[in-house]
Amino acid sequence: MADVEQLKRKAGIEACKFVKSGMKVGLGTGSTVKHTVVELGRRMAEEGLEIVGVPTSLATEKLALEVGIPLVELSEIDGLDIVIDGADEYDPQFQLIKGGGAALLREKIVAQESSGMVVVADDRKRVATLGAFPLPIEVTPFSHEATVRALSRLLDCRVNIRMAGDGPVFTDNGNMIADAHTGPNIMDPISTEANILLIAGVVQVGLFNNMCDAVVLAGTNGVETVINPNGRLQ
Ligand code: 5RP
Repeated sequence: MADVEQLKRKAGIEACKFVKSGMKVGLGTGSTVKHTVVELGRRMAEEGLEIVGVPTSLATEKLALEVGIPLVELSEIDGLDIVIDGADEYDPQFQLIKGGGAALLREKIVAQESSGMVVVADDRKRVATLGAFPLPIEVTPFSHEATVRALSRLLDCRVNIRMAGDGPVFTDNGNMIADAHTGPNIMDPISTEANILLIAGVVQVGLFNNMCDAVVLAGTNGVETVINPNGRLQ
């Protein structure tokens, strides 16, 4: 466990090399990118780095303020230079599953507003085909049982509402998360994303297609930055 935490820390810190003074930076959510946020705060305090951040969750907002990163709203700025975020899986085409931390809607809006996306991960997240990690789908509380049934029919798999103890998990946006147990066989993530978004009741799906430009990956052999040859950060 301590080893995994070390890997997350290494990846999270290494990704800060993409951040330069003057940048507007999307701040992702999760246990890996939290190390990025802490390191950016340290560089601001000790090395004169000047940035503003847009957090992707209330948890990241709290952490960013604690470490001294000034925050702005997306409405106040004209896009972000970069977002650094975690992922639950990434495939050889740099397509992602995200939403393990229930922050996928804000994460996707922030990624969509960014000129580049860097993912921080340990090497357990690299997969040949997406789907071993249950696919998170944000759904409206209204009639969520019907939305879950429609998702289950579409994906031909078990779909369940994510729980925390006795009650459902609610996102920062007041919605619920349906986890789809597709198995590692999402062969065409682009059409899967499009088909899921056609269901009324679905707010957003944790497939992040054609968004990721680089993965900073920590493994037992060290930290590696893998650049997407079709991405924007060549
Ligand atoms: C939150 C996310 C996270 O970025 C993802 O779950 C990875 O988190 P971690 O770094 O803790 O494994 O998508 O919604």
